[in-house]
Order: sequence, then C-alpha cells, then structure tokens
Amino acid sequence: MSRKLFVTTALPYANAPFHIGHMMEYIQADIWVRFMRMRGHQVAFVSADDAHGAPIMIAAEKAGKTPQQFVGEIAADRQRYLDGYYLDFDHWHSTDSAENVELSQSIYRSLKANDLITTRDVEQFFDPVKNMFLPDRYIKGECPVCHAKDQYGDSCEVCGSVYSPVELIRPFSALTGATPVLKSSEHFFFKLSDPRCASFLKAWTAGLSTTSGVSRLQSEVRNKASEWLLGKPDADGNLDPKGGLADWDISRDEPYFGIPIPDAPGKYFYVWLDAPVGYLASLKSYFTSGKAAADGQTQTFDEYLADEGVEQVHFIGKDIIYFHTLFWPAMLRFSGRKTPDAINVHGFITLSGGEKMSKSRGTGLSPLRYLELGMNPEWLRYYIAAKLNARIEDVEFNPEDFTARVNSDLIGKYVNIASRAAGFIAKHFDGRLYGDADVARDGFASELRDESREIAHAIESREFGKAIRLVMELADATNGFFDMAKPWLLAKSTDPADRLHLHRVCTQTLECFRVLTIYLKPILPQLAREAEAFLGLPPQQWSDIDIPLAPGAAVHPYKHLMARVDPKMLEALFESAPGLATPAPEPLAAAPAIEPIAETITIDDFNTIDLRIARIVSAEMVVGSTKLLRLTLDIGERDGAGAVVTRNVFSGIQSAYAPEQLSGKMTVMVANLAPRKMKFGVSEGMVLAASAVDEKAAPGLYVLEPHEGAVPGMRVR
Ligand code: 2FM
Ligand code: ZN
Repeated sequence: MSRKLFVTTALPYANAPFHIGHMMEYIQADIWVRFMRMRGHQVAFVSADDAHGAPIMIAAEKAGKTPQQFVGEIAADRQRYLDGYYLDFDHWHSTDSAENVELSQSIYRSLKANDLITTRDVEQFFDPVKNMFLPDRYIKGECPVCHAKDQYGDSCEVCGSVYSPVELIRPFSALTGATPVLKSSEHFFFKLSDPRCASFLKAWTAGLSTTSGVSRLQSEVRNKASEWLLGKPDADGNLDPKGGLADWDISRDEPYFGIPIPDAPGKYFYVWLDAPVGYLASLKSYFTSGKAAADGQTQTFDEYLADEGVEQVHFIGKDIIYFHTLFWPAMLRFSGRKTPDAINVHGFITLSGGEKMSKSRGTGLSPLRYLELGMNPEWLRYYIAAKLNARIEDVEFNPEDFTARVNSDLIGKYVNIASRAAGFIAKHFDGRLYGDADVARDGFASELRDESREIAHAIESREFGKAIRLVMELADATNGFFDMAKPWLLAKSTDPADRLHLHRVCTQTLECFRVLTIYLKPILPQLAREAEAFLGLPPQQWSDIDIPLAPGAAVHPYKHLMARVDPKMLEALFESAPGLATPAPEPLAAAPAIEPIAETITIDDFNTIDLRIARIVSAEMVVGSTKLLRLTLDIGERDGAGAVVTRNVFSGIQSAYAPEQLSGKMTVMVANLAPRKMKFGVSEGMVLAASAVDEKAAPGLYVLEPHEGAVPGMRVR
C-alpha cells in the first residue's frame, strides 16, 4: 500500500552557512526519503530557514543590515549545498513568511480559545542603554558558585552550575557593557501545567503512530520525555510531586525579530513557538506555489494537512528533543491538528580524537571546502550512512576510516564488480549480455535478490549501517562468485564451452551489480544514475529488483564510475586554509564591544596573584564533561628527591582545543589559587586564556603561550 509521508529536517538558524552537522542530518533524511520514494510512497520533503529571534536580530544590527536582509543573504547561499550533496528537498522556505505568520497566529488563537494561554508579570534584566530585555546569553558576570569571571547568565562553563541571571555577581550586558536593571513586563504562557496537556503528552510520548503502527519515539527519547513529564524518581523510587511540566513562556517584548502576538501590542512570539510551525508553513508554500501539484500531489494544502493518512515525520538532533516531544505535539493537538507520527532523533557528528566539529574555527569539516576540493559528495553520503543507526549515538568522522571504507569497500568491492565483468563483455561478446533469460534470472544474482526484504527493513528503520554491511557482504560474495569461475583463464581458452561459461558468468555478475546498485541507490543517487546509464536501464525502483537484465541486451562501454579518495584531499580538508574554508559565521561587520575595564588595583593587589610559566605535560578529555580538559602541568616544583611534582588543573577549553594541540606547550597558570573540588576531581590552579566578551559575535578561546625561552616555574610579573 502506498503511504503518504510529510518529512522534515530541523530548521537551521539563518545566521550562518550550513555546517557538517546540518549535512549529516539532511543526508540521513534524504536517504530515507529517497528509499521511501523508490518503494512507491508519496513524499513531501520540506525544510526552511529558522529566521527569527534575538541572536539574529542582534547579529543583523551589528552587520548594519535589517534582519530581513541578513537572513535573505544566508538563504541565498543554501542551494549550492543542497545541490552539492544531492539533497532532494521538494521545498525550502523561511519562518519569516506570510504562511508562518498566518499559521502561528492561528495556532495561538486556537490555544487561547481552548483556555491554554495565560499571562503573568515576569521580572527580567533589561539593558538601559539598548532599551531591551536581555536574553540570558547576553548577560554575563561572575559565577555565583565558583566565582569564575565572564560567565553566561544561565550557566557557568567552568563549574557547570546552572542558575538564573539575577544570581550573577556584577552582571553586565554583553551588548553594551551596561549594568542591567531588573524590570517587570507581562509575558504570555502556554499552560503546559494544565492537566489536559500532561495526560495527552503521557499517552502521546508512549504511544504508537496511528498510521504506521510503529513507536513515535525511540526508546531513549521516550524515557527522556517521561522523565520530563513525571520528574525523576528519588533514591526510594518516589516521584517528585512537583515533577512535570511548567508553563512555557512564549512571548518576548519588542524590539524582537519575530511574529506579533495577536491583540498584544509590542509582544512577539518567542522564536521557538514559530519555528516548528515553519514546518507547516513550508509545506503550505510548497502546495500553494503549485510545486506540489507539479510533483503529482492532487490534494490542497488544507486537505493534505487534515488527511489522517498522511504521516508526519521529523528528523532532528538530540539537542532539541524537548521542543519536539513536548511543546510541538501539544501545540498541534490543542489547536485541533494532527500530531507527528515519528520524531527521529540522531546524535552529533564529531571528529576523531574527540575534537568537536566547530563551525567557527578552521578545525571542523567544512562542507563547502569539501566540495571545493573536488571531493565526491557521495563518498560522504556513503561514509555517514555506514556509520548511522537508529539510535542516538554520535557519529565520529575519522579520516583514515573514511578513506578505507570508500576505497576498499565502496570502490574495491562494489564499483569494481562492474568494471571487471564489463571488460569481458565488451571485448569478447560485442557488448551484449547472454541471450537466455534464465541466466540473469536464475543465476547467482537470485541469492542477492533474496536479501531485499532484510535490506529494505534496515533502511526503513534507519539502520543504514546495517544495510551497508549486508550489501557489502553481498558484494564480497559476488566477487567470490566471479573469481571462482577464473574468467581470465576462460577468456584465453579456445573451447566454445568455456566461452559460453564466461559469457554467463559475466552476465550474472552484471545482474548482481544491478541489484546492488538498487540497494545503494538511496545513498548514492548519482552513481546509481550512471550505473543505470551504463546498463541501459530506466531509473530503477525497488520493485525492479525482481526484473533482471534483459537477455542479449547491449551494455554501454564501461567508464569508471567513481574515483578513489586521495588521502591528500583529507589533509587539505582539515588544514585551515582561510581562502577556501567556509566563511566564518559572521557577516558581523562591527567589532564586538569589549568588556568594561575592571576597577583599578595597586601593584600590591596584582602581586597577590602568583602567575607561573607552566609546561603542559599532558592534556586529556574528561569523561562525562563536554566543557573541560584535564591538564597536567609542570611549574618547576620538585619533591625532596628532585622528582617533578605536577599540578592537576581542569580547564573549560574543550570547545577550542583538542588535547593533542596542547600537550607539550608552554602556558601561564595561576599557581596560588585555592584548590577547588569539582565533580571530576580537585583543580589545583587555572591556566590563562583570552576570549571576547560576546562569544557568539567573536567566538574563540585562546590559551596564553609565552615567547620562546621561558621555562617552567618562572614567575610572570
Ligand atoms: O536548534 C536549531 O537549530 C533550531 N533552529 C531548530 C528549529 S527546528 C524547528 F522547530 F523549527
Ligand atoms: Zn562556576
């Protein structure tokens, strides 16, 4: 039975070009969508830019542009990535659109009519210079717990404490440096504490899709959602009676780049309210633009949206589960709409060695640089697919593994099948396949066709790694089948029976290649097109697996279908080459404000801080921390026997450095800081690092390094 699928990927913020994390998600969704289409299902695959919110408004202002201009420039750059990686979206829209205004306001009105909207006064920090309420991320100050300076308003990057901005010591606005003042204002809330919401969400998060009959959520996601809904049990297994959902603050005061709240002058929807509505807005624009009809959709947007048979499937990353499993289904349900059928959550992509992919530094994998270096996008699609499964595990990009999987598996096992068999067909049989139908139909290839259900099941359930393993096993078996016949000897024989045998074996091998090509087609659409052309076939669907190559058919002369990865390309990819790298996220022209200079001190005050040159003996990741690195430092201290006594220091610099970048380097440490007990052990000092006041505008963290000649233990004064 043909299914109707409405599939989306998370809407990327329109403040920066795509990074590799976006590409991974889109590749995952695109493979799934292509597979579903090959199975004969009807898919509307859409996404959009997430255009609203304070950070984008502020970034636009810094760049001297209107927010609309700013997001427009980002939007103009999207297509080359989408085309470059064969991402087959039907439509790409924006949350800053008429459709989204209309739909967001209509959902809000329904929630209000359902008595699920309330208002309350909220006291928040206000920047008196900029005349605006400050989002937590734009307030900085000293951590109330560990007293680290320059921490964000919601959490401390050094000790990991979470707090409210009003608890910060000496808070300042990251925009102007001004001291913020507390000011009260009316806010609008979605009443998620209403018992109707809790009881709906408990059932919804635990339930099955009414259309597909499969769980809406992966088990890890379901557990997380139930923890949020019920609260966490204490040691005795009792649930916190206060557990459950709080009302959700959905309004922001002007100035704000967003959608006005109806009948509430000066109030806008918080960006996370209108962002998921953008899924529907993009779908609507796909329909009203006439594109959907051109793609064969016969319904109107309203009909399609109300159609109980349409399955709504969202692909998202693990960082936005909360919004998609609680707020979004509740918004849809209580505005009288259908709820999603599946929220498919994936992990992050990391670089081997534990270094995070970073869009702001030259160290990540820039998807644009990848293409500019002439690297084949299908290598990346294949590699990512090979590493993906249906769980929420991070995917590690390892350059050696990438090269091995593409060169040895994809090309060595699969692509080469075609070249090996085609050579004999061209040379000895005038480019024609064997003339009897049963050769391709009943020969060895039937064993490959027998696996189609299992492979289909793996792809449909997003176990792409498993699907690729199965396909590669079949490719191995095909090579074994071919080798066993010793075609190179048969080709030299003058015995006509040997020649017939050679013809049959090569025909069967090409039929195997055809079947393998269909299996890999959702992952390698371009390669599949070329393989189809080589075999003289129309675009293959999944059901074509059972239609073997025609007897006596002509195949085209073989042209190499895919080049190998040259390891030098990977070196070039990870070198920071500013000329080629993805432009840094900014079109942020204006320099960020510097942090206000601290109060005057005397030289005696300064001398109370004992700064020493330190050698970083080793640097390691800290298991369980996404912020910290553990540094072992030599500052010249020796015990009675003259052996080095090192210091253990935890430093919140993981976002900026891989451990191996630091080992062996010199730096400066505060040697007389009181030891601090942290979750991961005792920290005996701190190393010095520079950062900008507004890390969003000027990302980066720079550990200090002395000029050559300084040795461990020297005092810095
Ligand atoms: O986290 C993000 O990048 C958001 N822009 C995702 C929004 S997804 C959807 F709700 F629009
Ligand atoms: Zn702290």
